[in-house]
Amino acid sequence: MSDHSPKDQMSIVIVGHVDHGKSTVIGRLMADTGSLPDGKLEQVRAMCKSNARPFEYAFLMDALKNEQAQGITIDTARCFFNTKKRHYIIIDAPGHIEFLKNMITGASRAEAAFLVIDANEGIKENSKRHGYMVSMLGIKQVSILVNKMDLVDYSQERFDSIVQDYTAFLGRLGVEPTSFIPISAFEGENITEASIEMPWYTGHHVLAQVDDFNKSAEPTERPFRMPVQDIYKFTAEGDDRRIVAGSIDTGTVHIGDGVRFLPSGKTSKIKSIECFNADPMTQAHAGQSNGFTLDTEIYIQRGELMVRDDEPPPQVSTRFKANLFWMGHAPMLMNTSYKLKLGAARAPVKLVDIVHVLDASELSTATHKKQIDRHDVAECILEVPKPIAFDLVSEIESTGRLVIVDNFEIAGAGIILESVSDDASTLKDYISEREAAWHKSEISAAERGASYRHGSKFILIIGSETNYKTELGTALEKKLFYRNFKSYYLGMAHMMNAMRSEQQLNREDIIRRLGELARILTDSGQIFISSIAGIDEYDIKILRQLNEPNDILVVNVSDFAYESDEIGLRLTADTPVNEAVDAICDVLKKQQVMEYYL
Ligand code: GTP
Ligand code: MG
Repeated sequence: MSDHSPKDQMSIVIVGHVDHGKSTVIGRLMADTGSLPDGKLEQVRAMCKSNARPFEYAFLMDALKNEQAQGITIDTARCFFNTKKRHYIIIDAPGHIEFLKNMITGASRAEAAFLVIDANEGIKENSKRHGYMVSMLGIKQVSILVNKMDLVDYSQERFDSIVQDYTAFLGRLGVEPTSFIPISAFEGENITEASIEMPWYTGHHVLAQVDDFNKSAEPTERPFRMPVQDIYKFTAEGDDRRIVAGSIDTGTVHIGDGVRFLPSGKTSKIKSIECFNADPMTQAHAGQSNGFTLDTEIYIQRGELMVRDDEPPPQVSTRFKANLFWMGHAPMLMNTSYKLKLGAARAPVKLVDIVHVLDASELSTATHKKQIDRHDVAECILEVPKPIAFDLVSEIESTGRLVIVDNFEIAGAGIILESVSDDASTLKDYISEREAAWHKSEISAAERGASYRHGSKFILIIGSETNYKTELGTALEKKLFYRNFKSYYLGMAHMMNAMRSEQQLNREDIIRRLGELARILTDSGQIFISSIAGIDEYDIKILRQLNEPNDILVVNVSDFAYESDEIGLRLTADTPVNEAVDAICDVLKKQQVMEYYL
């Protein structure tokens, strides 16, 4: 296995109704390609003989399974075999629900599927259900093995009628089958060589089909996506940089690449690529776990999606349409909170609409349902309270899959079909709604200004020196207050520090509350002063918007050269506090906040 590069590997899943011959197909394929461990076949034959049971190729699978299980935990049986062309992993998917869970959580990723149908029994409900699931999982190559042809005298009519019926079924799903192959797994017909029993069939035998499946695009060739797993503080050089860590789902990234974090929208450049126990690298790609340092100090959160600025962006929304397979014992109810896992993001999620529920075996649809029952497949609209970044499964599979947890158990698994516009959720829309709904005071800002002898202002002191900021904020408040200005100081630095250590607490919420508070206090005509740490340009923009139409003055007291148009006054933490207070008052005078005083 180790002498194969990932390019030469392919996973194929084998599905089908119970007893239609999945394990026999695999056993036969392994035996006929000489892929079994030495002596295994003889051992199983001998075991059957001593138990007076007929030999079954399916027993080989059990024998292999037990062997593999000693080394590693396996949830679906997996077998490995090689052809000249590639290295194959065949996944035997006995219970379709477990299989689906594994597929969606990425435990196994098949690029092609074999669907086995017993020629004698014909199309059964799981033949259909599995066909549906394979298509739902985005596996585009499906070859149908019409098995046990020996039981129907290798009848071409029987084969043709199954081909016709099943093609019609797949057509309704929009799936075009790769091929139909008439086989007898038990007799070894059309497995690794053309069958003499079925001269009427001229297509591929199973082994030829295996090599004829196409590789899907390598994950490294897709747009770059890395869910942020963690942010580590990096103090080796006595500075305040952070390492953004995660494992790369798709794509490639290099030092110097412009990157963007979503949903926050913050941007920066890759400064270095760190690797655990290895030398720093100049590029990193899908499948690797890395840490990145960035050119600028920005605050991002676990669960954000890191993407490259020069590549197609993912979706960002609070609502999306998903195809969801529900496995929970209790049904999924509307407007009830569940937990969503999407990449590294975790969020509460609600079912807000059911487009339709599908009975996968009959492909009949119900549009009237108000809940999703166990084993239903539903096309539905899900909603999260805050925007989340994702891809459509048709574009990038790994970031287009989701899992829903109910009571600590995976209850639903799904794929994202499209983003649904979330009218009320963007900040702008929220603010205009807020402004419209707000019954404003009948006293105008000018009247207040004339009475108070000054205008209002939101003064925000930023920088990393907590004590200095607090001293400055309180001193400024006092000076203004004792000169009869309406001033009020609220220090937030400790609050932000506490939050940063507790990553669960949400910074955005605090920023939002501060912005709302500023809006109210400045509307009341006051000079509202606050100091805060761990804030960046994006946060300031949010505060500015929330405080509009009133003004904000950002005072930076950090030694850290933080270039931003948002900053109105730059001081350093070694400026004596009284001088800093005077410098701020000078700006206020220039901006005519104190015109009545002068
Ligand atoms: P589950 O794992 O239980 O879902 O079944 P499966 O799909 O893996 O079927 P399995 O391979 O265990 O085969 C079921 C039965 O069908 C066994 O008794 C096989 O010997 C028999 N069988 C499989 N392929 C053929 C075939 O080509 N011809 C005949 N006559 N019997 C077959
Ligand atoms: Mg089986």
